Amino acid sequence: MSSDQARPTLGIVGAGKVGGSLARLSQARGYRIVAVASRDRAHAEALAEAVDAIVVSSPAEVIALADLTLLTIPDDAISAVAETVTIDTQTPKAVIHTSGAHSLDVLAPLAAQGIMTGSLHPAYPFSGIAESLAGIAFAIEASDEPLRMWLSDLVAALDGRALMIPPGGKALYHAALSIASNYTVTLYALAERLLASLGAEQEAAAALQPLLAGTVENIRQRGIPDALTGPLVRGDAGTIAAHLAALVAYDPQVTQVYRALARATLPLAEARGVDTHMLARLLADDA
Ligand SMILES: NC(=O)c1ccc[n+]([C@@H]2O[C@H](COP(=O)([O-])OP(=O)(O)OC[C@H]3O[C@@H](n4cnc5c(N)ncnc54)[C@H](OP(=O)(O)O)[C@@H]3O)[C@@H](O)[C@H]2O)c1
Repeated sequence: MSSDQARPTLGIVGAGKVGGSLARLSQARGYRIVAVASRDRAHAEALAEAVDAIVVSSPAEVIALADLTLLTIPDDAISAVAETVTIDTQTPKAVIHTSGAHSLDVLAPLAAQGIMTGSLHPAYPFSGIAESLAGIAFAIEASDEPLRMWLSDLVAALDGRALMIPPGGKALYHAALSIASNYTVTLYALAERLLASLGAEQEAAAALQPLLAGTVENIRQRGIPDALTGPLVRGDAGTIAAHLAALVAYDPQVTQVYRALARATLPLAEARGVDTHMLARLLADDA
């Protein structure tokens, strides 16, 4: 344990975008990074120099030196590392990964050796080294109470927001992020295709991007369900019927997506006081 009893010393395995960001930002907030390992030694050396740590050649060496080791490696590499490391330790140690998709179960071979295991997923799209993670949500899973506290303290030190995930909840958490982020891109692509079919390929960005940015801003400012605009919240069945007729002629598969999304929107319209019975009949698959 570090001289500051509340704070574990940190080790980093994987000197990439997430590892590099967490190591630099934690060190700037007073954490001691004791060791770094990566697949490419030059990458480990560059990060170790930046955070005043030593370079070692294997994950096992990092785990042996640090109280809390962060496996910031690709999702597919995590289980292989967990399966190959053997540690004989008398002091409390923890190993976590930063994957959004995996739960802490992927670290079971380490848990079987008495190591606390967990995961810490920053809900942030890293495209390089982040300068700040202030205000970002970090999903936390932890096998044991001391580790849960270490991770909440680390998130607090980074000015992030801790989001505690109950056991078994990680897949649902990640599905929520995918719906909000990945599938917004899918919906944008569908809308772009519809405009392109009208010959408006060049103008699609000008038509859609301010709309999307305004929607995000509405959600930020007004929340759910008040951010909802459009025909459903106006109870405008005629417009919905016209959308469906136009879409069926264009592509039945897109019509299915539209129907499913509109049905999922009905509870929001109801919450805004709209009588949705007629809309629900219009949107049924057999309508
Ligand atoms: N990028 C994001 O937006 C984001 C957001 C939240 C969470 N995450 C998660 O964070 C983790 C890391 O993602 P990333 O974006 O930082 O990836 P990245 O930039 O590609 O970095 C991964 C690092 O891991 C190293 N590495 C690969 N295999 C290794 C192994 N077997 N042993 C040791 N080091 C190994 C690589 O080594 P070398 O550089 O040395 O070759 C690389 O530096 C993933 O689980 C990812 O899902 C990513």
